[in-house]
Amino acid sequence: QAFFKPIQNSDPHSITKRNIKISVIGVGNVGMAIAQTIISQDLADELALVDAKPDKLRGEMLDLQHAAAFLPRTKINASVDYSVTAGSDLCIVTAGARQNPGESRLNLLQRNVALFSNIIPPVAKHSPDSILLIVSNPVDVLTHVSWKLSGFPSNRVIGSGTNLDSSRFRFLIADHLDVNAQDVQAFIVGEHGDSSVALWSSISIGGVPVLSFLQNQQIAFEKETLENIHKAVVDSAYEVISLKGYTSWAIGYSVANLARSLLRDQRKIHPVSVLAKGFYGIDGGDVFLSLPAQLGRGGVLGVTNIHLTDEEMQRLRKSAETILEVQSQLGL
Ligand code: NAI
Ligand code: LAC
Repeated sequence: QAFFKPIQNSDPHSITKRNIKISVIGVGNVGMAIAQTIISQDLADELALVDAKPDKLRGEMLDLQHAAAFLPRTKINASVDYSVTAGSDLCIVTAGARQNPGESRLNLLQRNVALFSNIIPPVAKHSPDSILLIVSNPVDVLTHVSWKLSGFPSNRVIGSGTNLDSSRFRFLIADHLDVNAQDVQAFIVGEHGDSSVALWSSISIGGVPVLSFLQNQQIAFEKETLENIHKAVVDSAYEVISLKGYTSWAIGYSVANLARSLLRDQRKIHPVSVLAKGFYGIDGGDVFLSLPAQLGRGGVLGVTNIHLTDEEMQRLRKSAETILEVQSQLGL
């Protein structure tokens, strides 16, 4: 006996909805912060979890399933077998080693590149039409590695990049000026790491360019203040890692923010790691780093052409060189 009896002259099963499926590979601090944010923000109909640790995987799946009464309906599966990811629209990769206190992201390169050669091919095989969103560090180089290993077009291989750094930057500026961070349009670009670049000249608050905003408000600022705010952004992860051992909440919201723009075709502009060759005079080779890119259901729809000062352009090219240098160790 069906639990529900259909109303007369109805055929409720005639309309079939195309489900949105997201896979998260790596269910550690970051993967689970992303997973729970995706569910609570109702971004997917299906969520598949993959990890190398079967007990951890099953435990995280059950723990999320037990919250079903408080969350939007989302089908959650988990397996060490990548076939669980089949047919995903978006595959988010967080698997890998994380920094020890004081360790740079680039130091993780050898460990995580080795893992990716076992992770990306099955992910790409099971979801050949998906968008890959890479989070593991060093995210810019690993996004490049994922592009090579997957064989996907570059518009469907994206790194979370400086979307997180820019959120930290917007928080610090908003806190400094006592405004809402969502009214602060500010980009950090380049490497998600020590060589990132703050685009001070294009920052606006409620549509007002920040430098003239400060002058209008007679808020004294020296170049040093601006540099200190950017330095605080670069130091953020090191500080949080030294205090709690890892970062997770901000990256969880940052990646869910990207997932929404991609899967709901929001066509929003985000600073994310893209194939940057040919933009802003970056021409030393194939390199992924963060530039302001328009994101939609087709992945990277395009890169904006923001005016950079000579100093910003120089710093961005230096950041590209830093990544290219690291890549050369891999023969990329
Ligand atoms: P974690 O150690 O908590 O989790 C890593 C997970 O990866 C573990 O559950 C582990 O079992 C899994 N794993 C390891 N090898 C695997 C394999 N071959 N296949 C499948 N799963 C595998 O680490 P956490 O804190 O979640 O960080 C994960 C990564 O994310 C690190 O590389 C970290 O640097 C990076 N990260 C990147 C951020 C960004 O802004 N791009 C921000 C925060 C972290
Ligand atoms: C962060 C590091 C872990 O920015 O990538 O949080």
